[in-house]
Amino acid sequence: MAMMRNYIIFLASLLCLTNLFLASSAASASDTFGVHEAFVQCLSRKSLPNEPISGLIYTPNNSSFSTVLQTYIRNLRFNETTTRKPYLIITPTKISHIQSSILCAKQYGLLMKIRSGGHDYEGVSYVADSPFFILDLFNFRWQEIADKLDDDLFIRMIIDVVNDTSTTVTNAKTIRSTFFALFLGDSERLLSVMNKSFPELGLKKSDCTEMNWAESVVYYTSFPAGTPVEALLSRIPQVLTHLKRKSDYLKKPMPIDGIEFIFKKMIELQTPVLTFNPYGGKMAEISPLAKPFPHRAGNIAKIQYATNWPENGVQTAEHYLNLTKQLFAYMTPYVSKNPREHFLNYRDLDIGINHNGKNKIKNYREGRVYGVQYFLQENFKRLVKVKTVVDPDNFFRNEQSIPVFP
Ligand SMILES: *[C@@H]1O[C@H](CO)[C@@H](O)[C@H](O)[C@H]1NC(C)=O
Ligand SMILES: *[C@@H]1O[C@H](CO)[C@@H](O)[C@H](O)[C@H]1NC(C)=O
Ligand SMILES: *[C@@H]1O[C@H](CO)[C@@H](O)[C@H](O)[C@H]1NC(C)=O
Ligand SMILES: *[C@@H]1O[C@H](CO)[C@@H](O)[C@H](O)[C@H]1NC(C)=O
Ligand SMILES: *[C@@H]1O[C@H](CO)[C@@H](O)[C@H](O)[C@H]1NC(C)=O
Ligand SMILES: *[C@@H]1O[C@H](CO)[C@@H](O)[C@H](O)[C@H]1NC(C)=O
Repeated sequence: MAMMRNYIIFLASLLCLTNLFLASSAASASDTFGVHEAFVQCLSRKSLPNEPISGLIYTPNNSSFSTVLQTYIRNLRFNETTTRKPYLIITPTKISHIQSSILCAKQYGLLMKIRSGGHDYEGVSYVADSPFFILDLFNFRWQEIADKLDDDLFIRMIIDVVNDTSTTVTNAKTIRSTFFALFLGDSERLLSVMNKSFPELGLKKSDCTEMNWAESVVYYTSFPAGTPVEALLSRIPQVLTHLKRKSDYLKKPMPIDGIEFIFKKMIELQTPVLTFNPYGGKMAEISPLAKPFPHRAGNIAKIQYATNWPENGVQTAEHYLNLTKQLFAYMTPYVSKNPREHFLNYRDLDIGINHNGKNKIKNYREGRVYGVQYFLQENFKRLVKVKTVVDPDNFFRNEQSIPVFP
């Protein structure tokens, strides 16, 4: 396995790829007291005697409540004092704990937010605007899904704004493209592949590092070179910051004047970063209808918009959210339309939210807005059918869950 990283400032070779959430913490104890107590008692009643749940429940009374809540916040935007806090946090270790949580939540009409790992850019798993609790699955280990792609080479391109050191003009900025790749093979063969299909990048053997697959994951996570694979077992994030993410799909190559326009706008905006993840390969051979995930053939690349900022504060966040939205607006002519498609795992509440109210028709209409953008029309319809059979009461819901047929 060979990995490569290569930096190129504003280069024509870019074109190659382009062809390509009672808070009881503060809430008055009097109105929440009863529910709290009763809910906790229910959990104990409904759990198996040999699999007790009591030691796995964190209420605002437990000294570690805040720590447990904050430990798996992966976006500091949702670590503000104004962010609504859960009634309690349940950290199951057994399936039976999950079952009793669902039964008691239904009985007491409490919203359940399920928190796991991975991308949760909008805090959907631990933020809510009505009383809720968190079912936090951090005691469960999740399976790794092997990459079954046939194609041996994956090149990700990251475009950001950096200081321009090639000029004496003060504060001059320029665009940097970083090519970050994974190749399933040795560096000899990679060099030959690159020489044939992407010679403009000028890849040299010294740019490549051979390693096994697990080591490549360490590399991808941006740990320093030589970090042992065991580092992957750490639950402490490398970087914790405030962030916003959005996504798009590229279906046809961006014209050169379009690329120039976007580069110019990025230099104006400065902070938002674009990442192009090429599709094709095995992805392109699977029908969009085969599974819920529809973005397959016909997509050149998935684009991620990424804005990170260190400062706390809701107003500061508004500023950076605005920058991200501006770049997203500038990209409109170049990306998928009718519908403009997005990647569910890069959760983005800007594209529509569900209020999950009493009016089922309204819920369905709201759900269709984001549903079609994440899953396309046909897959969304099928997901609604399944949801209507499996969860007619809409127990499992969040800001962008699949709605029930009215
Ligand atoms: C929290 O502590 C108070 C005071 O000890 C107690 O009355 C209340 O029942 C506790 N709440 C929960 C949910 O355990
Ligand atoms: C939280 O506090 C309650 C009451 O003191 C206790 O029964 C429970 O085990 C504590 N939870 C944890 C996770 O320590
Ligand atoms: C989240 O907020 C709390 C309370 O303001 C603070 O103590 C904690 O350090 C914050 N977490 C991080 C990772 O900044
Ligand atoms: C870029 O330049 C600014 C001043 O224009 C400076 O404050 C900043 O530290 C520089 N960044 C890097 C990464 O050199
Ligand atoms: C690429 O292939 C050409 C033709 O086979 C060869 O002349 C050239 O040296 C190769 N370049 C590299 C960097 O390997
Ligand atoms: C960003 O903020 C400016 C100035 O307040 C406003 O005019 C503009 O509409 C905002 N843009 C977006 C995309 O929200």
